[in-house]
Amino acid sequence: MQFYIETVGCQMNVLDSELVYSGLRRSGLEPATHREDADVILFNTCSIRQHAEDKIYSALGRLKHWKTHKPFGVLGVIGCMAQKDQKMIFQRAPHVDLVLGPGQLELLPETIHQLLDEKLQLRYENQEAVTGKKLLVSLKRLEHRHTEVVESFRLFNPVRNPESRTNRFQAMVRIMFGCNQFCTYCIVPSVRGPEQSRPPQEILDEIRTLVRQGVIEITLIGQTVNSYRYKSNGKTTRLSDLLYEASEIEGLGRLCFVTNYPRGMNDELLQAVRDLPKVSKHLHIPAQSGSDSVLRRMRRNYTAAEYRELIDRIGSTIPDASITCDLIVGFCGETEEEFGATVELVRYGRFKNSFIFKYSERPGTKSAELFSDDIPESVKKTRNNILLEIQDNISLEQNRRFIGRTVEILVEGVSKRFETGGVQLSGRTLCDRIVVFDAPDDRLIGQFLKQNIVEAAPFTLFAR
Ligand code: 5AD
Ligand code: SF4
Repeated sequence: MQFYIETVGCQMNVLDSELVYSGLRRSGLEPATHREDADVILFNTCSIRQHAEDKIYSALGRLKHWKTHKPFGVLGVIGCMAQKDQKMIFQRAPHVDLVLGPGQLELLPETIHQLLDEKLQLRYENQEAVTGKKLLVSLKRLEHRHTEVVESFRLFNPVRNPESRTNRFQAMVRIMFGCNQFCTYCIVPSVRGPEQSRPPQEILDEIRTLVRQGVIEITLIGQTVNSYRYKSNGKTTRLSDLLYEASEIEGLGRLCFVTNYPRGMNDELLQAVRDLPKVSKHLHIPAQSGSDSVLRRMRRNYTAAEYRELIDRIGSTIPDASITCDLIVGFCGETEEEFGATVELVRYGRFKNSFIFKYSERPGTKSAELFSDDIPESVKKTRNNILLEIQDNISLEQNRRFIGRTVEILVEGVSKRFETGGVQLSGRTLCDRIVVFDAPDDRLIGQFLKQNIVEAAPFTLFAR
């Protein structure tokens, strides 16, 4: 029996798919090379914007013909959309057999085998492949007691199979699950549940295991990774403590962490980033907007001035740091003046790059309940393009400063293969800048190299 996982969305989903891959392999299933050949197709889904969901529903629709060829196969929807839409998925895509949320991944292999067995039984009995559908999701936040909700979002951190990763030198390690911020536009707190930090010993053991398997770069991930906090025996471990402890692990070459919430960027954390040579000097800190009134409507709990003060503090503590940002344009009621404040912030921030999103109303969020999604799509698009252009120029200016400098990179992979032989390899600096260079073959992957930068584009440095 073969399985195929289609993954969209953020790094959380990429990691979940990796864990699911390992779980399914252990349960006896084999990975399929082509989706259509698989007996089990899983969609690991994202709900952050409407567009992501629309694409999944149409992809599910296109799989009707696969179900006609493989009536005894299992089609499953996992991830955020499973938790958000629940049984509505069966209504919109009746050929789906299984809907399973991010807090139930542990139960996925046995549930798939149950479904396959039920279908096999029907096949022997020469009946149609109509079996019961399975819906496994967590409790809805606000509708149940906090402890019950937390229990229903079960953590899933199994031992990983190295072949489940696309790159054997890099791996992600989840240090916390869920989010407690409830920014008004965001669906994440309801689909990923309350914040839960993993015990530090478990995290460090996982890193050690990965390093033994040959991993050089570890990225610690969490929805608000800098809110990580674990109390035990009267001692509290924070992200900065974890960075110190993980840095001690021999064989580990580089340590990164995403995504940060602006308010938690305390001095201990910045100093740890500055003082620990293995820790990446790249900080991803979403601002979302540069306007105080918009930030208030978003319930972000900081002002634009506080965010600017944070940028200054980073600049004076870690002079070689690079900062990246997420921004939303066209949030409910965003005036030209409010948008202008975001433009100002982008100019002030001199971000390495920014991820810019057009506001997308998510049913079930506070902003959908309280405000109207009243900025026309055309205005959202214009604002998006204006910010992109300003950011592109800044990115290029920032990158040009590297021309003539020698930087150390970790070589990550092949970005091009030349017909004449030889390859273009790509790697990253400690401050997360992409560097590409030509090489005779791919033997340098996974090594640290010093490179001379000769040319710059907004997203890439070119080296010789
Ligand atoms: N509409 C548009 N962008 C959103 N994001 C989160 N929710 C929404 C939404 N409803 C963006 C934020 C966040 C990033 C992961 O996605 O900028 O930081
Ligand atoms: Fe969503 Fe805000 Fe939590 Fe980020 S911090 S996941 S934007 S609620």
